This record gives sequence, C-alpha cells and structure tokens, in this order.
Amino acid sequence: MASSRFTAQHVTRRTLLGATGLAGAAAALAACGGGNDGGGASNGGGSGTMMRLALNQTETHPSYIALDNFGTALEESTGGAWGIDVFPNETLGAQQETLQMASNGSVEMSIVSGTQLENLNPDFLTLNMPGAFDNIDKQMQILQDPAIVGELFASLEESQNITVIGGFTQGERSAYSTVGPIMTPADLNGQKMRVQESDLHLAMAAALGATGTPLAYGEVYTGLNSGVIDAAENNEISYFTQAHYEVAPYYSFTRHLVGTDYLIINTETLNSMSEEDRAAFDEGWATAVQEHTGLWAEQTEQAVADAEADGAAFNEVDADAFQEALAALPEEFLTEESQTALWDAIRGAQG
Ligand code: GCU
Repeated sequence: MASSRFTAQHVTRRTLLGATGLAGAAAALAACGGGNDGGGASNGGGSGTMMRLALNQTETHPSYIALDNFGTALEESTGGAWGIDVFPNETLGAQQETLQMASNGSVEMSIVSGTQLENLNPDFLTLNMPGAFDNIDKQMQILQDPAIVGELFASLEESQNITVIGGFTQGERSAYSTVGPIMTPADLNGQKMRVQESDLHLAMAAALGATGTPLAYGEVYTGLNSGVIDAAENNEISYFTQAHYEVAPYYSFTRHLVGTDYLIINTETLNSMSEEDRAAFDEGWATAVQEHTGLWAEQTEQAVADAEADGAAFNEVDADAFQEALAALPEEFLTEESQTALWDAIRGAQG
C-alpha cells in the first residue's frame, strides 16, 4: 500500500524488502524503528502510526486485498492517525516467526493460522479440529460471536502481549499429491504429507494413512518439487496462488476441515489507540471480514478453473471415508474441560 500520508520512508523500506528478502527485512525494520520512537511502528516523522502487518500470502490472495483495503480505510477514518502496511509473501518471515514478532512488538500485526495459536493456548486446537465447522457460513458466524470466542481471543494478552482481533476463513482444506489421484484414505498410504506445525495435524495425517511432515507454508512448493514430500493439504486458493498445482497436479476434494486464520495484534499497540480510533479499527476489520468472505467464494471458483486449465485434475472423493478416518481425533485431543466446553458451544451453535 503506497499511502499518501505516510512518507517516503516506508516506500523505500518496501522496495528494499522486495530486493533483499528476510535478512534485508530485519535490517530494514531495525533501521526504521531506530528513526522514530525507538523500535515501535513507523511514524515516518509525521503524525500517523504505520502498523506493519506480516502475511504469508501473495498480493492476489483475498487476505492481502482485504487487509490492504482495511489499511486505506483506517487511515481515512482515523484522519491519518493509524495505517497498515501489509508485507506479503513471508517477506518478514514464516508464521512461527511473525507470531513471535507480534508478541515482542517488532511488527504490530500478523495473520497466523489457528495451528500456530494452538501451540500457545491448546483451547485454539478445538477450532482447528476436523469437523469443528460444517461450512464457511457457520464458521464466520461463530468467529464473530463474542459469547463463544471472546474469552479465547483475549487469552494471550497477559502471557504473550497478543490480542486476537478476529478470524478469516481458510476455506475447506483438501489433500493433493504429486503421485496420483487420492480417492480414499488408502491412497495416501506411504505418502509423506506436509502438515502445518501442529500435533493435531500430524495426527490427522497419520489417521489418513500418510506420514505427516511439518513445514512452513513457503517451503511447500520446493518440498513437493524436490520429492521431500509427496502430498499436502490446503484450500483451492492456496493451491493455485502458491503454484502447488504445477508440481502436485492431483487435487482431491477431501474437504477434511474448514481452517481459520487469525488477525493478531500486539496488545500494547492496540491499547495505545484512542477510543475513537479503536472503534474505527473494529469497524474497518468487520468490513474487511465481509470483503474477504465474498472474495473467498469468487476466488475459490476461479482458482479451480485456472489450475484445471493449466493441467491440474480435481477429483471428488468418498468424503465419508475421510470423515470416518478422522472421527476419533476430538476425543483424543480435546481432553481439557475448557476445550470440551468450547467444542460443545461450537457444535451446539450449528444445530
Ligand atoms: C492457508 C492459510 C495460511 C496457512 C497455510 C498453511 O493458506 O490461509 O494461514 O499458513 O494455509 O497451510 O500453512
């Protein structure tokens, strides 16, 4: 986002990042922090605060588009007091790192997958569970219901200095392979399947007959291409925008879970907003969620069409066989009372 109110400093920084990658990113962030308030968000010498938001998606992905527009709207609604600079493509690091960066304030915000948060508070695991959400509509209702998720979203403030603002859908996740079509869990037998860094998702791969290999998102293409992994699982938009279809052309609609991404923000930064600015921030976020959900449906369809046109094969599978294979996971993983209470609230809200 090249904003009028925010100065050359941040434009230069972005150019530099594109050219130099992560090492450059760290240096650039340090240089930028040193020039204003001693390490916090850039204020470019002007009156506004530019918050850095770390994202692991491309600029064409619904999350980038909705967040970039959120930044523009926030700048307008706060009279230039707050802006958001979205850094896409893991430029600032993979999610495991950017989660830490948001916690220690070296960036203000990040989008992280629910699997990352389950490692900080196991209650998040409940929402990462296959079968937690029937579909995206129900997922979005639940993620916007403070009676169900309010406490959870505030649960990392004291220990991690992180507030969860809300969730974007990751859509329905399905399996894909370099080897051939996956029609039943048996077809995954012996395949090394990339999973997110999560014990639950490792167990999920095992329950499907595969061997789980945790990898950061940005490493999946190379992993598939080099044969380090044979398979992965993700939504159609990631499959297309990360070009995984080029190296793993067999996509099977296992739809084994509806995943969630969270917008996290450094709690101190959030608390430094005036009441009016915070209200504008919340309103901007609500609009971003709506835009994201709309774009999600459009781009999902387009991603399938584009990948297919480029040679990928999409197969419907025996979905019941996949669900059955995963049926024991809730009992195995949801062992705390707080987890079962959350599970009951989520499942209860879906009738
Ligand atoms: C989706 C999700 C990301 C996540 C990725 C992954 O693309 O939106 O937040 O990192 O899956 O599988 O790692």
